[in-house]
Amino acid sequence: MGEPEYQSSTTGHRYRDTIKEFTGPVKSDKIPLSMIDFVSLSEAETKKFGENFGARLRGGEILALTGNLGSGKTTFAKGLAKSFGVKSRVTSPTFVLLMSHKARGQSPAKLHHLDLYRLEKTGQLKELGLSEVLSDPRAVTVVEWPEKAKALLPARTIYINFQHGSSPSMRRITISQKYGKQSSG
Ligand SMILES: Nc1ncnc2c1ncn2[C@@H]1O[C@H](COP(=O)(O)OP(=O)(O)OP(=O)(O)O)[C@@H](O)[C@H]1O
Ligand SMILES: [Mg+2]
Repeated sequence: MGEPEYQSSTTGHRYRDTIKEFTGPVKSDKIPLSMIDFVSLSEAETKKFGENFGARLRGGEILALTGNLGSGKTTFAKGLAKSFGVKSRVTSPTFVLLMSHKARGQSPAKLHHLDLYRLEKTGQLKELGLSEVLSDPRAVTVVEWPEKAKALLPARTIYINFQHGSSPSMRRITISQKYGKQSSG
């Protein structure tokens, strides 16, 4: 509460503008999230970004997190979990493809966290109950390594890309699709 928590001592331009935009009023069907282009300078900032992002979600959203190993996808998911009041630990489980976490509220009531890095066959997704997960109106679903389930993700999926930056602790986070788009598919 009060002053914005994102105050990077090293960047002043886009970074802060983006956050200003990002932490604005919740009009999720109006604000084009595709405008968000955020530079994070630490793990904590990425987590906080996830937390603020999560505060704008109401349940039913699907977030596809793209980017290389170690680019910050799970860190972001931890921030989401925090904003939903998830008590269980969000981790990068090696052989578990789906972890469902109970949230504090009514909606989102759950955070489904998929990490498809080790997925071998698309058929496994059916066994996991992916379609049930994706159609859960009161859950937020995050998918790491969504490339592996591309054909199964609906058009309204919000793609968030994580990229390493020019210094070891820099990450660029960009949202590549409008939120709230209701096209079919
Ligand atoms: N600005 C930053 N944001 C996020 N993580 C950062 C940042 N700077 C450094 N790191 C480090 O990068 C790593 C990010 O790990 P994380 O598990 O979030 O990546 P990931 O994208 O989920 O990788 P994977 O594809 O293996 O699941 C952590 O070790 C973290 O400490
Ligand atoms: Mg991860």
